[in-house]
Amino acid sequence: MFRCSACNSATQKWSGRCLNCGEWSTLIEAPDEPKKKKGGQPTGAGAALTTPLSSFAHTATDARRLHSGWRELDNLLGGGLVPGSLILLAGEPGIGKSTLVAHILLAQTENTVYISGEESGEQVALRFQRLEKNSGAKISFVSSTDCAAICDLITKTKPRLVVVDSVQTIRHSEVMGEAGGVAHIRAITNSLLETANATGTTIILIGHVTKDGSIAGPKTLEHLVDVVVAIEGERSEKIRFVRCFKNRFGPTDEVVVFEMTGAGLKTVADPSGLLLSERSLPVPGSVVTCLMDGNRPFLVEIQALTSKTAFGMPARRANGFDASRLQMLLAVLGRRMGLPVDTHDVFVNIVGGLTANEPAVDVAVCMAIASALADKTIPQTVVAFGEVGLSGEIRRVNNMDKRLREAEARGFKFAIIPKTAELPKLTSLKCTPLTDIRALLEKFEK
Ligand code: TYD
Ligand code: MG
Repeated sequence: MFRCSACNSATQKWSGRCLNCGEWSTLIEAPDEPKKKKGGQPTGAGAALTTPLSSFAHTATDARRLHSGWRELDNLLGGGLVPGSLILLAGEPGIGKSTLVAHILLAQTENTVYISGEESGEQVALRFQRLEKNSGAKISFVSSTDCAAICDLITKTKPRLVVVDSVQTIRHSEVMGEAGGVAHIRAITNSLLETANATGTTIILIGHVTKDGSIAGPKTLEHLVDVVVAIEGERSEKIRFVRCFKNRFGPTDEVVVFEMTGAGLKTVADPSGLLLSERSLPVPGSVVTCLMDGNRPFLVEIQALTSKTAFGMPARRANGFDASRLQMLLAVLGRRMGLPVDTHDVFVNIVGGLTANEPAVDVAVCMAIASALADKTIPQTVVAFGEVGLSGEIRRVNNMDKRLREAEARGFKFAIIPKTAELPKLTSLKCTPLTDIRALLEKFEK
């Protein structure tokens, strides 16, 4: 039998290219698959025996959950880290995954183990020192890349919490091919999951993901692990967003905002303040919008820059915003508002490293582009949000009241919003409901 070292699919005949995933030269001769035990399930004669559900209740209580050291992060996890669970912490290289787990380990009072396949003890110790000098935490360090040895260690010593940094550097002896391949990653995750369940040790598994979303590995693990936590942001910025994409033990639509400082991560109580802190004088092409992330409103600055296309096709670039959505908005601005977008390069940026995953940002993007093209500034007391449709209509968005209250709390005076039936009671924020984007342009020309 032959097995692909990239996707682990099996085939009887060798070929130069894997028929399943299309990778070249990845088929390797492999022994027939070893029979695997299903994780956590009893086998043999006892398999059909039932157990009263109530007898599990004592292990499912919240009292035994581990605390991360941050109340906000515990809430995100539904009340802390569940004993015997496997948590995947995913993020781009250099974003702060190792730093986040170091904080969590430092907050523990019981025995914990940091297993690193990519850094030396000195490097790890230096990072811990940077975060906290005199912690009473009992953390052991292990440098290992062997999955079986790691599982063995956990089974023998049964620590409360183990961190494995990172899944891409660990090897599984039963799998062929390079470490970091999908087959390896899956086999390792399965082994760690079985070990976590069997020992009651909580395991945090770190996984690197790439920016373009081709999450070589972690994406394929999401259905295996109990919890998927992602840390996101721009490496060049201070702000970090920690989200829960999957949680067997709690809700998932929350976000915790951190700031990366010289001494590690600190939670940010007022993310809008941090996101808007670097605004200086008003410049053309800049406007503030209010985005929802989970249940939280964030005020962010949208910047647009336009310049006459020197040659050929006009360029369109979006940072933190969907490029095809930008194309669509430009078509609307060109056709419905008659703006000269065809002859201009357009660059749109969402300041601070936040990604706009909702169309509520559309109105602000249109305003920023129109402002840049007209070379006119928008007063800094204006906030704008709403979805823009193909005929230029401005559509309603959810959580209007939360967005408006956040804007009012941050001292904004004017809000450009979609027409809506119910407006919350506001004292200092004046709302201008609009139904069409043309009405917006008229406001601009005044
Ligand atoms: P790290 O946690 O090593 O990232 P990852 O494990 O996701 O690859 O942290 C990466 C960056 O964070 C690194 O560029 C240095 C910076 N950093 C700080 O700014 N302050 C700190 O206290 C620490 C520990 C790191
Ligand atoms: Mg790291």
